[in-house]
Amino acid sequence: MNEIARLEFCDYISAARDGYEPVSGGQYSSLAVESWRGIFHKEREVIDRDDIMEAHLFRHACKVFDSQKKISPEDFEAILEAGRLSPSSFGFEPWRFLVVQDMQMRQRLLPLVWGAQRILPTASHFVVILARKGDSMRYDSDYIMHMMRDVHRLSEESAKMRREKFEKFQREDFRLLDSERALFDWSCKQCYIALANMMSTASMLGIDSCAVEGFVGDEIESMAPELFGYDSREFGVAVMVAFGYRIEAPKPKTRQKMEDIVEWYPQR
Ligand SMILES: Cc1cc2nc3c(=O)[nH]c(=O)nc-3n(C[C@H](O)[C@H](O)[C@H](O)COP(=O)(O)O)c2cc1C
Repeated sequence: MNEIARLEFCDYISAARDGYEPVSGGQYSSLAVESWRGIFHKEREVIDRDDIMEAHLFRHACKVFDSQKKISPEDFEAILEAGRLSPSSFGFEPWRFLVVQDMQMRQRLLPLVWGAQRILPTASHFVVILARKGDSMRYDSDYIMHMMRDVHRLSEESAKMRREKFEKFQREDFRLLDSERALFDWSCKQCYIALANMMSTASMLGIDSCAVEGFVGDEIESMAPELFGYDSREFGVAVMVAFGYRIEAPKPKTRQKMEDIVEWYPQR
């Protein structure tokens, strides 16, 4: 890649990462575009299949971490980035990631999180994943408008058309407007995609994790908004996830056989 193409490429990538307008206003030379095509499509190094499977086998629900070992800022940034880059319905990113490094805050969560009694005090990093609720996820909310205008950069006309499509999707196709719960659960589903991507990324980096759903929703809902300072009309807790380094050997994996969970059409 020549120097101009490289600079433009860096600008493009930084803009995409940091969410600002590229310096060139999005107009790049054909040379640059040609070079990027190589990066995006054919020149990317493929990760070895065995290495990928090894990472999936390495990941296990880590019930206690080595409290002396901390994840490097660079590795943790990559885990967060995997969450941020996760796909979401219509690209509306119905999540927020609260990184709880304050041990007093973790202490306050402890009595409510029965599924993380040894996890909370020992994890290097602990993340509470919030999902957006009706106030911010309805097709007519300010947040959805903000996403279409400021993040997706749609014109007024395109935003209007997309909003109509989104309204039909929410109201009729998925009946998400039938109850507050339906909309919240739909947001939560998407948060679990980010959760999985973050745990897989951690595992590829040799970092252990554990998803945490072991809490009573109502109890968390009555305490977390005040503890973390978010609006309970806008967000609710979807799931939590801990990261760190194992101190105990994992239990052997138990899984159903492939043929018991996969069906092929036509049959193989
Ligand atoms: C959404 C979700 C929530 C979970 N919640 C907890 C939890 O609160 N506490 C816990 O110790 N493990 C929790 N787990 C871990 C599961 O029990 C574990 O993933 C499962 O038994 C399979 O074991 P493996 O992950 O070691 O392969 C959770 C897993 C998922 C995916």
